[in-house]
Amino acid sequence: MKITVVGTGYVGLVSGACFADVGIHVVCVDVDHKKIEGLKDGIMPIYEPGLEEIVKRNYASGRLEFSTDLSEAIKGSEVVFIAVGTPPGEDGSADLKYVLAVADEIGRNMTGYLVVATKSTVPVTTGDKVRGCIQAAQNNRGVNIPFAVASNPEFLKEGAAVEDFMKPDRIVIGVEDERAEAIMKRLYKPFQLNSDRIIFMDIRSAEMTKYAANAMLATKISFMNDIANLCERVGANVSMVRRGIGTDPRIGNKFIYPGVGYGGSCFPKDVKAIIKTGKQYGYDLKVLQAVEEVNEAQKHILVEKVKQHFGSDLKDKTFALWGMSFKPNTDDMREAPAIVIINELLAMGAKVKGYDPVAMKEAQHIYVGDKIAYAKDAYDACLDADALLLVTEWSEFRIPSWEVLGKLLKSKVIFDGRNIYDRAYLEDMGFTYYGIGV
Ligand code: UDX
Repeated sequence: MKITVVGTGYVGLVSGACFADVGIHVVCVDVDHKKIEGLKDGIMPIYEPGLEEIVKRNYASGRLEFSTDLSEAIKGSEVVFIAVGTPPGEDGSADLKYVLAVADEIGRNMTGYLVVATKSTVPVTTGDKVRGCIQAAQNNRGVNIPFAVASNPEFLKEGAAVEDFMKPDRIVIGVEDERAEAIMKRLYKPFQLNSDRIIFMDIRSAEMTKYAANAMLATKISFMNDIANLCERVGANVSMVRRGIGTDPRIGNKFIYPGVGYGGSCFPKDVKAIIKTGKQYGYDLKVLQAVEEVNEAQKHILVEKVKQHFGSDLKDKTFALWGMSFKPNTDDMREAPAIVIINELLAMGAKVKGYDPVAMKEAQHIYVGDKIAYAKDAYDACLDADALLLVTEWSEFRIPSWEVLGKLLKSKVIFDGRNIYDRAYLEDMGFTYYGIGV
């Protein structure tokens, strides 16, 4: 079986490599020549555990190809996945220009029956638009080649993308006819060894499922951040409350960790986009509007605590900041709370010395620049700093040597944005500890 995956970002590259790994012939297509040449040389455009190995292995075997030529790639392909970006437009709705450009190109070049499946997170009714673009492009050519549109949203998490793809909780596929369903079933057969949860549905429901899933997870996080902020005020401990509620299987113990707010390429964008869809259809998604508001406020919570301790004039202060990516095991800094925290500290006159195990290049080149100093390692960041802010919970930050930190820091103050340290223990060691709702 041969397929084409258009777009070599997170979703496209991981999907392409994983499909190849179970024996499917995959051509990954991208308009970015540099990226494609890099991939042929084994250079990954993103950091993702296990990805390099699986890409190299399958490229070497010939099952995985990289190309910039979509028309060539789709020859003989049974399925074309559209996995290009859907950046938020100015009004918060997902911008479909890349998705529809691919649909148009498919329509201009296809020679036989194809299933065109969107894997990018796209607003409800995009399937109809993709169909329209392909049909229009075919009409221009004066041809009428049969095809099917499908929606196959991807639920993989950054940092665990390969693992999530290979062992999915569920595979959601929206289709409109049996022929497409049979092809998609065959394509996903190898993954059913690990999971028998392939759920077929109509296209709009599949599109909606992706947004509903991300919106529900974002809601859990904002809800817990709200509860944590209240715990602080009433003198309760949110870590206990979290454990107390998480044992109820209806609530579950995942995604109820309070912190400095959710970031990344999905939650912020998708929550905004579904709110926008609601508005377009005359419906106010009130819960999700609050979810977003709480999250925006939460990104400032650590600096609020800094102000509480040091006052608002931070001119002579230097802060060590651990973790810049929006979560551990990725170099992705899109919508990362660290960006907000750094900018706010700088605006108040402070100096920042940051350290992240993998995201510093990203930070320096794109998101932060040279406004802050970049440390050699976690301890170096703390040398002569007035306090330490833990922003992203990379495992190497979990058990530092507090003796060493106590000597490096000018004052023993810790702002723990992820509640990974123990207040009682640190206070015993002479530190002042601030957490989120603990
Ligand atoms: C998410 C979804 O999990 C995935 O299914 C979807 O396909 C894409 O969006 P991802 O953005 O990679 O994946 O990150 P995820 O691990 O879900 O974390 C998102 C954010 O929520 C991070 O900023 C994380 O720090 C935050 N988070 C997560 C919390 O603040 N508390 C939690 O309890 C869990």
